[in-house]
Amino acid sequence: MQDLNFRESWATRIGFILAASGSAVGLGNIWRFPYMTGEHGGAAFLVIYLVAIILIGYPVMINEVILGRKTNKNPVGAFKALAPNTPWWLVGALGVFTGFVILSYYSVVAGWSLAYIYKVVLSATAAEIDHAEVFVGHITSVWEPIIWQAIFMILTVSIIAAGVVKGIQKWVTILMPAILVLLVILIIRAVTLPGAGEGLAYYLQPNFGDVGPRTFLGAISQAFFTLSLGMGAIITYGSYLREKDEIPGNSASVVGLDTGIAIMAGLAIFPAVFALGFSPDGGPGLVFITLPAVFAEMPLGVLFGLLFFILLSIAALTSAISLLEVVTAWLIDEKGWTRGSAAVTMGIIIFVVGLPTTLGYSVLSDVTFPGLGMDMLDTYDWFANSIFLPLGGLLTAIFVGYIWGARNAVQEGNKNAGLISLGNWWVLLIRYVVPALILVIMIMGIYDTFFG
Ligand code: PFF
Ligand code: NA
Repeated sequence: MQDLNFRESWATRIGFILAASGSAVGLGNIWRFPYMTGEHGGAAFLVIYLVAIILIGYPVMINEVILGRKTNKNPVGAFKALAPNTPWWLVGALGVFTGFVILSYYSVVAGWSLAYIYKVVLSATAAEIDHAEVFVGHITSVWEPIIWQAIFMILTVSIIAAGVVKGIQKWVTILMPAILVLLVILIIRAVTLPGAGEGLAYYLQPNFGDVGPRTFLGAISQAFFTLSLGMGAIITYGSYLREKDEIPGNSASVVGLDTGIAIMAGLAIFPAVFALGFSPDGGPGLVFITLPAVFAEMPLGVLFGLLFFILLSIAALTSAISLLEVVTAWLIDEKGWTRGSAAVTMGIIIFVVGLPTTLGYSVLSDVTFPGLGMDMLDTYDWFANSIFLPLGGLLTAIFVGYIWGARNAVQEGNKNAGLISLGNWWVLLIRYVVPALILVIMIMGIYDTFFG
C-alpha cells in the first residue's frame, strides 16, 4: 500500500516536469537563444539573461504554476475564478492572444527544422557547399517553407484535436536525454575545431561596454519565451499538479533543465561560428547555417545531423502543442466549442496569420515594420516576446502580489513544500522586484528601439 502511494505521487511529479519541460525546451533554446546572444554581443548578454532567469523567470514560473493548480482553469478562467466580475480576465485573454501570435511564426521556424531533416543530409554529403546559401535559398523560395509550415501545423493540430497531450509529453523522457547527448557530442566537435577559442571567449568572457537598454529587453524577452511564461501555458500545465506535489522544487527543475540546454546550445554554436568563419550576429539563420557546417566536419555527420533535426523538430512540436492547447482550452471552456473543431479552426487561422512571416523572406521581403526596421518574422517575434509576454508576466505578478494576495499564493505554493519553500524572498520578488524590473526594462528598451 505504501509502495503504491509512493509510485503514484512520483508519477504525478514527473508528469508535471515532463509537461512543463516539454513546453519549455524547444526552438527557444536551440534556435532563438544563440542568435539573440550573437546579436547582443555574446557573454554580457548571457550574464544578463541568467540574472533575468533567476530574478524574473523563476519567481514568475512559480506564480503561474500556483495560479494553475489553485484554479484548475485555462488562463481566462483562472483570473475569473479568483477575481470574479473584474476586468482581470483580460490578462488571461492577452495570454491567449499572445499564444496565437507566437504559434503563427513558431510553426514557420519549426517548418525549417523539418525541412533540414533532409537538407542536412544533402549538405553533409556535398563536397563543396555554401551553408549560408542553402539556408537563404530555402527561406527565400516561396512554396517549400509554406508546405513545411503547413505540415508542422497539421501535426500540432492532430495531437491537440486527439487530446493526447499527456501521452505525447512522455516522448520528453526520450527526447531530453537524447538532446543532451547530441549536444555534448556537438560541443566536443565544436570546441576542438581549430580557431574555436575565439568563439569560447566571445561566449564566456563578458564585455559590458556595449550593453544598452535593448540588451536588457532582449534578455527578458528570451527569459519569458524560453520558459513559456507570460501567456498562460504554465498556468494551464499547473493543473497537472495535485495538492500533494510541491511547486518550488518542480519549477526549479524545469528552469534548470531549460537553462542548461540553452547554455549547451551556445557552447556548441559559438566556437563553431568563429572557427568556420560565420558571423555571430547572423540572426534567425544562425543555427541552420552553423550546425550543418559542423556536421559536415564530423565522422558520421550525416547520421548526427539527421538525428539532431529530428530531435529539434520533436522539441518544437512539444512546445507548439502547449501553445495551441492554451487557445483550444479557452475555446472549449469559455465558448463551449468541441475540442476537434476548436483545434482545427484555430490551426487554420494561425497558419494563415503566420503566412506573412514565411513570405517575409520572399514575396514580402521589402516590407519592414515602421520604426522597427525588422522583417516580418522578427516583427512578430518582437511584439510577442518583447511586449506581450513581459506585459503578461508583469500584470500576473501584480494580480497575485496585490489583488489575490501574495500570502494566499504562498499558502498554495507551500502545500507539501520540499527542499525549497516560499517565504518573504518570493513575496519580495513577486511584489517589487519582478514588476519594477519588467517596467523599467520595457520602458527603456521600447524607447531605445524606436527613438534610440
Ligand atoms: N518555450 C518554448 C521554447 O523555448 O521554444 C516556446 C514557447 C512555448 C513559448 C510555449 C511560449 C509558450 F507558451
Ligand atoms: Na525554452
